[in-house]
Amino acid sequence: MNDILKEIKKLKEEKGAVILAHNYQRGEVQDIADFVGDSLELSRCAAKTNAKVIIFCGVHFMAEVAKILNPEKKVILPDLKAGCPLANMIKLEDLNKLKEENPRAKVICYINTSAEIKANSDICCTSSNALKVVERIDAEEIIFIPDMNLGSFVSKNTKKKMIIWQGFCPTHIWIKKEDILRLKEKYRDAIVMVHPECLPDVVEIADYVLSTGGMLKKAKELESKRFIIGTENGIIHRLKKENPSKEFYPVSNKIICPNMKRITLKKVLNSLKNLKPEINVEENIRIKAKVAIDKMLEVV
Ligand code: 13P
Repeated sequence: MNDILKEIKKLKEEKGAVILAHNYQRGEVQDIADFVGDSLELSRCAAKTNAKVIIFCGVHFMAEVAKILNPEKKVILPDLKAGCPLANMIKLEDLNKLKEENPRAKVICYINTSAEIKANSDICCTSSNALKVVERIDAEEIIFIPDMNLGSFVSKNTKKKMIIWQGFCPTHIWIKKEDILRLKEKYRDAIVMVHPECLPDVVEIADYVLSTGGMLKKAKELESKRFIIGTENGIIHRLKKENPSKEFYPVSNKIICPNMKRITLKKVLNSLKNLKPEINVEENIRIKAKVAIDKMLEVV
């Protein structure tokens, strides 16, 4: 084991820390984590952990969720600049206006939102449970924020009226239908799995539309040997590691989230040394945001 890995392991034990990493993290960061998962799995893991310190290898809103669920713990995001442009695409004024215009509607916010937006929503969802949350919520009209592609995917699978905010993930929109079709020409037997943040014409030609955790499960489950993967390319590391006899083809080498990649082993080490930079959420916002997250966690 090289020095940085040894030091991370030693400090992690000394400080009573747990390292959580999203499926889009760099391979070497995923490999030192105690738990790697999708947004929902990471929220569940953060809700259960007994560790005193959570080193969150992901983007800002994810670390914020961990803090909302664990106010007594230190939650560290190794680089505070690791934000999510999609989460920043809706402001509280926008949400308030939507509520005024649609007084009968309930608000479902994607987990890719700020704590303030969650605090002003009825319930939260992730890409793996969005449809379930829409179906379970006690309302026929839904304000769905902020991802228009996830919203459009869900709206095609429900009879409920959905008012959808026009935000999008700047990484997923680079996944193009033509690139998938070109790969499909080459690997005719390949299964196409895409994330619901992809554009509707991409979603339409996919065999499966799944969260990152859903893709990992499906790749193991299916007999197929080849897969075309339409999401951030960090997931390929885990797919290959867990399925060494199968082949995974990213739609393009450009599908990289620069924010996810801000987290490096060196930054993880520094975070463990200094227990910084810490994520904090104002208490009155935290309490309200927790209601929306807890409601989501109750949806199985
Ligand atoms: P998952 O919940 O599928 O891991 O997606 C997280 C995300 O932020 C996608 O951009």
